[in-house]
Amino acid sequence: MNILAIETSCDETGVALLKVSGGVRAPKAAVLDNLVASQIKIHQPFGGVVPNLAKREHLKNLPILFKKLQSRHKPLTFDLITVTVGPGLEPALWTGITFAQALAKEYKKPLVGANHLEGHLYSALLPGTISRGKAPGAKKKKIAFPAVALIVSGGHTVLLKLGSFSEWQRLGETRDDAAGEAFDKVARMLELPYPGGPEIQKLALEGDPNAIPFARPMLHDKSYDFSFSGLKTSVLYYLRDHREDGTIKPADVAASFQQAAVDVLVAKTIRAVREAGAKSVILCGGVAANKKLRLDLGKASRKAGAAFFVPPFKYNLDNGAMIGLAGYMAYERKKRYPFRANGNLEI
Ligand code: KG4
Ligand code: ZN
Repeated sequence: MNILAIETSCDETGVALLKVSGGVRAPKAAVLDNLVASQIKIHQPFGGVVPNLAKREHLKNLPILFKKLQSRHKPLTFDLITVTVGPGLEPALWTGITFAQALAKEYKKPLVGANHLEGHLYSALLPGTISRGKAPGAKKKKIAFPAVALIVSGGHTVLLKLGSFSEWQRLGETRDDAAGEAFDKVARMLELPYPGGPEIQKLALEGDPNAIPFARPMLHDKSYDFSFSGLKTSVLYYLRDHREDGTIKPADVAASFQQAAVDVLVAKTIRAVREAGAKSVILCGGVAANKKLRLDLGKASRKAGAAFFVPPFKYNLDNGAMIGLAGYMAYERKKRYPFRANGNLEI
């Protein structure tokens, strides 16, 4: 079946068209189109996403992207529409919901709500997912269960244990800042533009990851929870204490911060892998675009005997394609989210 997907939870407007099949057990998707309008330039002067500006831009971009889709697929046919209902910025989410409801009425097609975090999770099922190694006992490079998934984005840091593509348990999450948020905040301290993740990554290439021993909060804590606010504060104090003596090397700060964040994410994920006897590790969400995290978690997963999966860069950041799959899975699982923006929707 063909699915039309709409994503407006944060600062990317996404409209995608997917051909999906396989059901809950073996979901498969071909991405026929994945249009994304990024608002980064709009929010950059403010150093972060401004909800009402995001809303205004989504309202402007949605009809433009949909028209573009119509012009590229003649005739445009779909059997189901899906839209992100949360989590995210509520004014932004509402624009997508209202737009999708109007389309459902006009085209007389069913509409299902999608969970943005499930979208990130299922992005690992989109074409082009990179894998390292085969799961124990597997013949092909496919996600095998039990699996552990690390969802790291600007708003969330969640560790899941999955028994299948439709059944999971939340092992841990962040108690304060999300991983991406920490990258964004540290970037701001270093006077780098928003979004900070890619900027820190770039600057870190010229720095020494072992130069500054920043705090690695909760590394040895028994829970699977994370805390990135302590790490952020540790960077703040370092900058404050060394501002006067002129010894700050921004590239060393970026590299050492990035390494501290990656170390905590990898350590907790691998402990979960070992305890769950996981055969696969899935890395997803915006921070999954981080090359150091991809590299270190990939290596550590293989060492722990699990195959490693990470979606290609184009599906790490928010997009409609991942929402198409999340909507399909919700539809197949008969999970019906209310058509109401839910900023705090959980996975
Ligand atoms: O998933 P996403 O597009 O939006 C949310 O659902 O939050 O993630 C955006 C986050 C931002 O915090 C951004 O700084 C971070 O992902 N990010 C990165 C990288 N690229 C994006 N963080 C670290 N390294 C990167 N290369
Ligand atoms: Zn996201």
